[in-house]
Amino acid sequence: MIREIHSNDIETCAHLLMDAYNMEPWNTHWTIETATRYLNEFFSSKDFVGFVILENNTIIGAMFAHRKTWWTNDELFVDEFYIAPHLQRQGYGKSLLEHAERYAKSQNLAGLTLLTNRYFPAKNFYEKHEYIQADHVVFMYKEL
Ligand SMILES: CC(C)(COP(=O)(O)OP(=O)(O)OC[C@H]1O[C@@H](n2cnc3c(N)ncnc32)[C@H](O)[C@@H]1OP(=O)(O)O)[C@@H](O)C(=O)NCCC(=O)NCCS
Repeated sequence: MIREIHSNDIETCAHLLMDAYNMEPWNTHWTIETATRYLNEFFSSKDFVGFVILENNTIIGAMFAHRKTWWTNDELFVDEFYIAPHLQRQGYGKSLLEHAERYAKSQNLAGLTLLTNRYFPAKNFYEKHEYIQADHVVFMYKEL
């Protein structure tokens, strides 16, 4: 079952985020405090769009996204997307992504956009779903 994210889902989603990324190959060190703050930033945006996927009444994955204005047609930008590690590669990600695509279409949005790590498996997942790499875009940063 897939439904919209509610405020009382954030804590569960934060624990799931820690489960999904505090391991190989990401090796992040999200804490419940930083994960909750990170997800609440998306959730509190006025253009927030988010869904959770449940199995036996338990949240097993989440997508945090937002509607983004663009000069051609608005789009859905995916800020965060993850499935519980022990349930990955069983089609839940596909269900959640397709749900978001149906939502975007129902809202007359142009499509979905997102950033992902080119060296990690999610890139193959998106390519399987016909997402195209934008070669002209470069993600830049400066450490201070
Ligand atoms: C990426 C993610 C959301 C996909 O959800 P999922 O439920 O695992 O995906 P599905 O079962 O629908 O599709 C599986 C396909 O995705 C790709 N994939 C997902 N995880 C993979 C992994 N660990 N290794 C290799 N391929 C993987 C493969 O193409 C796979 O197909 P295959 O099993 O036939 O080889 C999920 O794996 C995940 O949460 N990963 C960790 C967090 C992450 O990277 N999020 C995306 C950030 S942009």
